[in-house]
Amino acid sequence: MLEGYAPGYAQDALSMMNTRTASDRAAFAQQLFTPGARVLDLGCGQGSITKTLAPACHVIGVDIHHPLLPTGSTVDYVTATVYALPFATASLDVVFSHALFEHLTNPAAALTEIRRVLRPGGHLAISTSDWSRAKIRPRTANVDAALRGHYLLRRQNGGDPFSGRTIATKLATAGFTNITERTRYREDLTYRALATYIETRLAAALARPLTKDHDQLTSAARSAWSWTKSPAIGDFHQCWQELTATR
Ligand SMILES: C[S@@+](CC[C@H](N)C(=O)[O-])C[C@H]1O[C@@H](n2cnc3c(N)ncnc32)[C@H](O)[C@@H]1O
Repeated sequence: MLEGYAPGYAQDALSMMNTRTASDRAAFAQQLFTPGARVLDLGCGQGSITKTLAPACHVIGVDIHHPLLPTGSTVDYVTATVYALPFATASLDVVFSHALFEHLTNPAAALTEIRRVLRPGGHLAISTSDWSRAKIRPRTANVDAALRGHYLLRRQNGGDPFSGRTIATKLATAGFTNITERTRYREDLTYRALATYIETRLAAALARPLTKDHDQLTSAARSAWSWTKSPAIGDFHQCWQELTATR
């Protein structure tokens, strides 16, 4: 399946990601960043986490989408895909990745490539979301229908909206050891902003020619639109699964 990266690079998605900081999103991995370590931030986006990820280390941000990568920074940035990293075998101490794995068509191949570039004894730290455990209240029929469309769109783009559920097993299967795992909840968006975020993506998908599952997405888009107009006050907390492991 072709990988499409469902959130896209529109301003609303970029603004949301730009609020993320290392002190929050990478707190679970801080003990891995020993001074002088060579660290990758995979799927680094605009670098809002990367720039303060590990000040005592040599940090390299990697992303497939070149226009996102900051320039003129103390951090190095490289354009590459996680499936073919331009680094020598066993040349890195730590690989960190936040909010990438849920968008990958082939996480197993990505983990094989990460294992290649990590030195034996090197560490991996992954945070990936699990929409199946997100707390979204109230959960009306329109919210449920909009979410079903949202998951369908993620899957059409090759991702797994429930990635956090299975990532530990994937790390073990890839040969990583000392796997630690914990769950964090965060209010990534307000309840109302989530409705708009989902509605915008469904509408954009339907505007493209030959969209698969057109009827299902049309009905989900209608529900998402009704959700955006609902006066209901609610809340949204995304479920993040945070893991560390050793190569
Ligand atoms: C949801 S954003 C996360 C950005 C940042 N890590 C954060 O949490 O704010 C996912 C990023 O992964 C990048 N990406 C998607 N597929 C990729 C791939 N195969 N290899 C490298 N980067 C990829 C996208 O371009 C995007 O910038």
